[in-house]
Amino acid sequence: MQSKSNRVIKIEPTGSALGADIDDVDLSRPLEDDVIAAITDAWHEHLVLRFRAQSLDDADLVRFSRLFGELDMAPITSSGEVEIPEYPEILVVSNVKVNGKSIGSLGNYEAEWHTDMSYVEQPPKMTCLYSLEVPEEGGDTSFLNMYAAYEALPDETRRVIDGKRAKHDYSRNSAGEVRKGFEGFADESDPRKIPGAWHPLVTTHPQTGRRALYLGRRRNGYIEGMSVEDSEILLDQLWAHATKPDFRWDQKWRVGDLVVWDNRCTMHRRDAFDDDSRRILHRTQVKGSERPV
Ligand code: SIN
Repeated sequence: MQSKSNRVIKIEPTGSALGADIDDVDLSRPLEDDVIAAITDAWHEHLVLRFRAQSLDDADLVRFSRLFGELDMAPITSSGEVEIPEYPEILVVSNVKVNGKSIGSLGNYEAEWHTDMSYVEQPPKMTCLYSLEVPEEGGDTSFLNMYAAYEALPDETRRVIDGKRAKHDYSRNSAGEVRKGFEGFADESDPRKIPGAWHPLVTTHPQTGRRALYLGRRRNGYIEGMSVEDSEILLDQLWAHATKPDFRWDQKWRVGDLVVWDNRCTMHRRDAFDDDSRRILHRTQVKGSERPV
């Protein structure tokens, strides 16, 4: 039987552990309430949605993103600037340089598995990433279903991690670069001394009620109350489990793709790509309304 959402919009699951395509909605136009509700339901069910062949300007991207809540302001660049002054909510993700100066963040390097901004107390709930220019090869973005990762854990491991909290490193971005203002932690090797937010290792999604493994970022992670050595062993086990292909879907970008993910039950990473090619994406983030619990 078709789901209620599928009667309003056409939803094609990727066939992998998460993700679905929605191809019959033009996001540059105002959306009817039943379409917005169907997209929201599909997002909760599939965790990552991809809308192909869109033609969006920055105003469209911001308008669409705001349907799901208040937006975060994009972080100030390392040179202290707002990337798009008319739309300070938009972060430019790009390797392109103009007159030797980067127009965006994250360069061409690999971005390691992470949950966006898990290093703050109240991380964003949704991220929207829209592609304007993409390389022929590389720069793919992969996603993990962290409900499935939790559900597949052995009972004994679930018992061990239940009720435990881990620290999520604030000092570096997902490409491993030290953030501005955190240079003093560049050589710190004790994860207990690195600044960051504490979150439960197992969280409950506020809308779906499903439990998810919440790992956030590996580097400088630390599980409260354990020796650093034991914490490293357990984190390594959890990361090896969560990043298995069984829980993963890979997005190969085309120009005009808008990909929207639920930051509370997924992680993502990005492949490196040739710096001679151009990759430009615009990103928005919808604020989370609660701390992960
Ligand atoms: C990100 O980690 O938010 C960026 C992902 C990408 O560049 O594909």
